[in-house]
Amino acid sequence: MQAAVPPSDPAAGFGFQSVAHIEAGIGALARLGELAAGFAPPQAAPVAMLVTDPGVRGAGLLEPALQALREQGYRTEVYDHVVADPSEQVVLQACAQAREAGAGVVIGFGGGSSMDVAKITACLAHPHNALQLAQLYGVESVRARRLPLLQVPTTAGTGSEVTRVAIVTTGASTKSGIVNRALLADAVLLDAQLTRALPAAVTAATGIDAMVHAIEAYTSARRKNPLSDMLAREALRLLGANLLRAVGHGDDLQARESMLRGAMLAGMAFDNAPVAAVHALAYPLGGLHHLPHGLSNALVLPHVLRFNAEAAATQYAELARELLPGQDGDTTQRAQAMIEHMAGLCAGSGLPTRLRDCGIERAGLALLAREAMGQQRLLQNNPRPLLEADALAIYEAAF
Ligand SMILES: NC(=O)c1ccc[n+]([C@@H]2O[C@H](COP(=O)([O-])OP(=O)(O)OC[C@H]3O[C@@H](n4cnc5c(N)ncnc54)[C@H](O)[C@@H]3O)[C@@H](O)[C@H]2O)c1
Ligand SMILES: [Fe+2]
Repeated sequence: MQAAVPPSDPAAGFGFQSVAHIEAGIGALARLGELAAGFAPPQAAPVAMLVTDPGVRGAGLLEPALQALREQGYRTEVYDHVVADPSEQVVLQACAQAREAGAGVVIGFGGGSSMDVAKITACLAHPHNALQLAQLYGVESVRARRLPLLQVPTTAGTGSEVTRVAIVTTGASTKSGIVNRALLADAVLLDAQLTRALPAAVTAATGIDAMVHAIEAYTSARRKNPLSDMLAREALRLLGANLLRAVGHGDDLQARESMLRGAMLAGMAFDNAPVAAVHALAYPLGGLHHLPHGLSNALVLPHVLRFNAEAAATQYAELARELLPGQDGDTTQRAQAMIEHMAGLCAGSGLPTRLRDCGIERAGLALLAREAMGQQRLLQNNPRPLLEADALAIYEAAF
């Protein structure tokens, strides 16, 4: 029996939270200092700490941000050793540096990795918090205070700038999540100019990640609500219309801006209506094979959508309106068209489409399927129950 997505019941009520303050626009980075001063005036909190990675620094993005902070009267401190899928060691290093420098405001400046480290740094470096990192893992496991926190994304993907989530690599192949309202930023600054130098492969992978957030939020079996639906639909419209353009013509600022905005809207959606099986099956690919988060999602996406096709037909058909305006046909036909369109976007964006092309052996698929079963927190949100045998069949289809 397939469990269809429950229809939204107007009498059921819902909850929704997100970041309260967003500044968006081409050139908005020049207002970073002013924005920070609204939460941590430099007279009271003179040190502003930026958390970033060497790739972002190498792309020459840092200096204008630091200048905007200095012009406002801040002394600046930079932690630029974040790596993809940051480890506990990286997180603790950033926290120690923030404490030592007496940081009064923390700014995440980069992709999901940098923004996630910034979130935890803002919590653990608060002078009156005696918290240890281990206490933060889990869902709202502790009430944490934090330093003022601003987020400036330089990829259009994770939506981490507007989520309460941070992911830390805690072992050779394991990641632990922190979901805590303290991780929700005070303000977000979106400036598409920052994403102009993003390489095509990162643009493609992060863009597909954002689209998956929108699709999975829209079909989530739990906490799907009128606001998350609206955000997911608009996110998918923006991302779907601009992904290939942003990949092929990285200097098209309009396409970049649509991607950045779409990724943020998708982040707002899935922070309230959580993601499901695509992410559950993507995580073992990242954990065991160190594939980038967005690529892992892209590899399993078409196959999970096909698995869900019947249970989520109505929702997929509704999303087809955003991706393929003018598409005719009944619900089943429009749902199919949406699924094949997403498969086409994954392939058309230049990403590998088969596990075998990413260094994965057929003999390793059973372990992936077993690991995916550990992601029950995500699997419970899937529109159709998914067992280990289903996971294996999906990995085989993706092989
Ligand atoms: N907090 C959340 O809600 C959430 C959700 C999903 C994933 N994540 C986490 O986010 C991370 C993935 O984030 P990501 O996909 O944004 O990648 P990333 O932050 O790891 O960055 C990927 C690469 O892109 C480079 N880069 C970033 N911006 C650039 C720019 N503008 N120009 C040139 N190079 C640039 C970086 O240097 C890095 O090498 C993972 O750690 C994942 O676990 C978090
Ligand atoms: Fe994701």
